[in-house]
Amino acid sequence: MREGSSPLIRREDYTAPAYWIRSVDLTFDLDPAKTLVVNRMQVERNPAVAAQALRLDGEELNLTRVLVNGDSVSFRVENQQLVLDNLPETPFTLEVRTTCAPEKNTQLSGLYTSGGGFFTQCEAEGFRRITYFLDRPDVMATFSVTLKADATKYPVLLSNGNLVEQGTLDGGKHYAKWVDPHPKPSYLFALVAANLVCREQKIRARSGREHLLQVYVRAGDLDKTEHAMNSLIASVAWDEARFGLSLDLDRFMIVAVSDFNMGAMENKGLNIFNTKYVLANPATATDADYAGIESVVGHEYFHNWTGNRITCRDWFQLSLKEGLTVFRDQEFSQDLVHSPSARAVKRIEDVRTLRQHQFPEDAGPMAHPVRPDSYVEINNFYTATVYDKGAEVVRMMQTLVGRDGFARGMTLYFQRHDGQAVTCDDFAQAIADANPGSALATHLAIFKRWYSQAGTPRVQARGHYNADARTYTLELSQQGLPSPGQPTKEPWVIPVAMGLIGPRGEHLPLQLVGEDAPVGTERVLVLHEERQRYEFTGLDVEPVPSLLRGFSAPVLLEDHLSDADLLHLLAHDADPFNRWEAGQRLALNRLLGAIRTGQALHLDAAYIEAMRSVLRHPTLDAAFKELVLTLPSEGYLAEQLEEVDPQRIHQVREAARLQLAQALHHDWEWAFETHQVRGGYSPDPVSAGQRALANLALAYLCLGASVTHDPVWPGRTYQRFKDATNMTDRLGALSALVNSHAELAEAALQRFHALFRDEALVIDKWFALQAAASEKDGRVFARARQLLSHPDFSLRNPNRARSLITALCFMNPAAFHRTDAAGYVFWADRVLELDAINPQLAARVARAMDRWKQLAEPYRSAAREAIARVAARAELSNDVREIVTRALA
Ligand code: ARG
Ligand code: ZN
Repeated sequence: MREGSSPLIRREDYTAPAYWIRSVDLTFDLDPAKTLVVNRMQVERNPAVAAQALRLDGEELNLTRVLVNGDSVSFRVENQQLVLDNLPETPFTLEVRTTCAPEKNTQLSGLYTSGGGFFTQCEAEGFRRITYFLDRPDVMATFSVTLKADATKYPVLLSNGNLVEQGTLDGGKHYAKWVDPHPKPSYLFALVAANLVCREQKIRARSGREHLLQVYVRAGDLDKTEHAMNSLIASVAWDEARFGLSLDLDRFMIVAVSDFNMGAMENKGLNIFNTKYVLANPATATDADYAGIESVVGHEYFHNWTGNRITCRDWFQLSLKEGLTVFRDQEFSQDLVHSPSARAVKRIEDVRTLRQHQFPEDAGPMAHPVRPDSYVEINNFYTATVYDKGAEVVRMMQTLVGRDGFARGMTLYFQRHDGQAVTCDDFAQAIADANPGSALATHLAIFKRWYSQAGTPRVQARGHYNADARTYTLELSQQGLPSPGQPTKEPWVIPVAMGLIGPRGEHLPLQLVGEDAPVGTERVLVLHEERQRYEFTGLDVEPVPSLLRGFSAPVLLEDHLSDADLLHLLAHDADPFNRWEAGQRLALNRLLGAIRTGQALHLDAAYIEAMRSVLRHPTLDAAFKELVLTLPSEGYLAEQLEEVDPQRIHQVREAARLQLAQALHHDWEWAFETHQVRGGYSPDPVSAGQRALANLALAYLCLGASVTHDPVWPGRTYQRFKDATNMTDRLGALSALVNSHAELAEAALQRFHALFRDEALVIDKWFALQAAASEKDGRVFARARQLLSHPDFSLRNPNRARSLITALCFMNPAAFHRTDAAGYVFWADRVLELDAINPQLAARVARAMDRWKQLAEPYRSAAREAIARVAARAELSNDVREIVTRALA
């Protein structure tokens, strides 16, 4: 843990570095208890900055020697920095020798051990835990790295770039030397020394260049690497085809490690991945896992250009690479599917994630702009706002300049900035400059408020039809709520994709007053003032507006549509996103009504019939049906309320689920029977959609049986669980049993554990399923607490810790928010325990309480007390301290 408390770092305080490090030569003598690092740097003064001491960052290092041009010099260590005065005016060599203890590194930042091997994670500030350095992204150096280690324990020695030399050493050791020709910031450094095997494939790129692709895993996992390799090959091809960006390396490696704080890391040429985003075979991974692997492999690969070739000037610009790269991985996954409806399914899933994670963040104590103004611990700002809202900002740029215009903008961005460390402003400027006359170029200064203003804008829409004039007037207005440090907001540029739908479901031609002719049946209105009016003309019938199609901007829309309008959109909207949204809104209206009034929920025939006709629809995709028939989550419902009683929300949502189960019983039976996938497993979207719908049907059928006590469906479900030939079906059946509290659930859980005891990622699912199960009489919470002492549970492995804690504290509001406050005690205890092991992870868990101020009593007071208990702990990391301080502010 770091000593002392760290100050607030401010964006406006940025200054260029006083020195440049042009090249680094690192030698590692790897030993779990004591690794020796010899670091030789070529350093020169930055003439643009006033002469001053050189201050190198370091953390938890033992310093043994410092030489300048080969001579020992005087130095001091101050605030964890190595400080050198009186340095030569001309470029010089600086050699620093340190040791560190990888096996004691439980934070998993810097150099650490996992499963008997060595791995690194340097973003954002982990490199300083390996050696003293200017550990900031605007200092870029070429790296040459020599690894020495025991040859039997660590047969594979990897670092960035190209392998230039290898051989044996005395004492059973061997070595390898790697050279990375591309200058890079320290956060992109990586090394691996472990006992691994690899799947490899040579590919020839469009350019004709040959590349070697490798996926490294532990010996038993080779049969789970095919999908990751295929995803990598598809990523290379996609970036060439869509953006003309080809792989700039002879060799591109992915390494899987089971102890990892995040999803994966884009180190130059040596991506290091959480095993969760590499390993998959049909028996152990679900369709969702396959999709996650595809998008994370794509994401890290795409960083090679957006992140590595052009990197961030400082960490406030994190969204420059993350927002853009999330946008790119979303587009990649959409482009891999061919039907428009499968693209829409992916878009709906992405928006659901945004609303479930980013919207609450933007409304809570951690709200911050996409480009933050300050932080205490940068690791706390790898957030849904920087990533997912950042991706929406890039998507809006593409909407405003068109797909081709956006590609031109990317080309200009690389022409201008390849090899540089730049800012979000540089990116927006390039996209705008490549598209003169576009709405983005015209309103660029206002558009950039998306980078500087926190909070989700609220958009009001009011329409009025004038039958005599045959016009429809749409008035759009926008408003921003205060957020921490930002009491007032100015208008944003909000692209509103829209259409007008007539009474027979026809899509009406869109002609604004003053235009000679209609411009198609869909267009993008660009709201850039507080209030704007649009008058559509030539309309013989009163339309229903379909606004914000495809979720064209990350805003909260209040469109004042009636139930009848929503039913109309659900039946006829050509935009699948809005069709889904209409279905969700119909459900929301009913559920929120019951939650607010305290009256019993009764799902009316109109709603039930609408759901039945979606379910039975002859042409809609199964995947889309599954999304429509899934009710808004308890978390999303909570976000719509002024005051939140999590137990009431759960009660009402469960009542709705039961009514859907009963009213549509025969339809669920039909859906289950008719959506069986035959033949071998394939994760393609059509088969995955069928499995998703069949699993939803099964969940409803078991739920229905839980009140009729009819044993047929639980029995069939148990049989399906046993006979399943893939994890999606097996987990779907298990989940149906567990969530309906069927008697057979216990036997199934035991059997599942016995079958997969040696598959860590599957055991994670086993914990998560139990901790996220639908709460009933406190049984789920009691079970989760018991699972803490299960022999397979551990806080040291982040995936395992998350499988239980995240599932309970984030994904299961009804089990977590208890009137006896036991959930909050559980939370505080885990945060404190984790903080001593892994502050980054502890700070993530700490955020489960972000929205405590929204809670009704007695939850609210109990929550405050629990947060205060954590905050009162003296020896708290900066990571957790920043989160709880903001929560209490
Ligand atoms: N850049 C990585 C990505 O692909 C995330 C690494 C974050 N690591 C951290 N310690 N905060 O998104
Ligand atoms: Zn990323």
